[in-house]
Amino acid sequence: MIKIIDGKKISAEIKEEMKIEIEELTKGGKRAPGLAVIIVGENPASKVYVNSKVKTCSALGIYSEKYNLDSEITEAELLKLIEELNNKEEIDGILVQLPLPKHIDEDKIIEAIKPNKDVDGFHPINLGKLVIGKNGFKSCTPYGIMELLKRYELDLNGKDVVIVGRSNIVGKPLAVMLTNENATVTLCHSKTKNLSEKTLNADIVIVAIGREKFLTEDMVKEGSIVIDVGINRNSLGKLCGDVDFENVSKKTSLITPVPGGVGPMTIAMLMKNTVKSRMEKI
Ligand code: GUN
Repeated sequence: MIKIIDGKKISAEIKEEMKIEIEELTKGGKRAPGLAVIIVGENPASKVYVNSKVKTCSALGIYSEKYNLDSEITEAELLKLIEELNNKEEIDGILVQLPLPKHIDEDKIIEAIKPNKDVDGFHPINLGKLVIGKNGFKSCTPYGIMELLKRYELDLNGKDVVIVGRSNIVGKPLAVMLTNENATVTLCHSKTKNLSEKTLNADIVIVAIGREKFLTEDMVKEGSIVIDVGINRNSLGKLCGDVDFENVSKKTSLITPVPGGVGPMTIAMLMKNTVKSRMEKI
């Protein structure tokens, strides 16, 4: 039988825990945590993610504001909105959905968000804090993966972990988080030589590159653990990850499905960061 890591179930548990935490927090008339979500343009995937984030806020008792901005908005106008939200009392977290249109400099936008409201954990200050092991906001997807591993009580001490994909959002911060938990991490990417050699030796393989069926069964060791971060659509329009699940799962001791693996954890951790931000102001 295939043993899966059930991100849907774990994220539901985390959200239940948070609901209680937020009820406690707002007792006696204290204001709820607040999240501002900004989306620029009409990217269909971004719309789905943003709507899901706003819906989850409302289910947990988190106040939210959604800003649907025209794709033609200038960088200066977007920076002005961020500045307003930086100074707005009811807002604890600001999230600008990526990608942004080409005429807007993403780095500049991320750096304009106050680090103590950067619930995405993308600001250089928060990334820097992560590297030196200080308490900041952790990027939601890698944070969600770490939480999954923790809740399945998987010991990372001395484990060989191979990550495929070196993005600033997933691969790089995840490599740091795993290193901080005493794993031995190999961070692979498009220029890596003999990738299979590396993945075949790994106790845990994590794939985040955005290519359907990239990780095949000949690339993984019997009994290993596979985490699939990909969200792709196949030729039939069906949602699928970066792993050839059907065949790879015959060899793994544990594997995340897509959908229902890492995806739901990302939103749960965003909510967790928003609550943390509110708590830090009390
Ligand atoms: N685009 C893809 N993933 C993310 C994410 O986690 N946060 C934001 N803001 N944009 C994204």
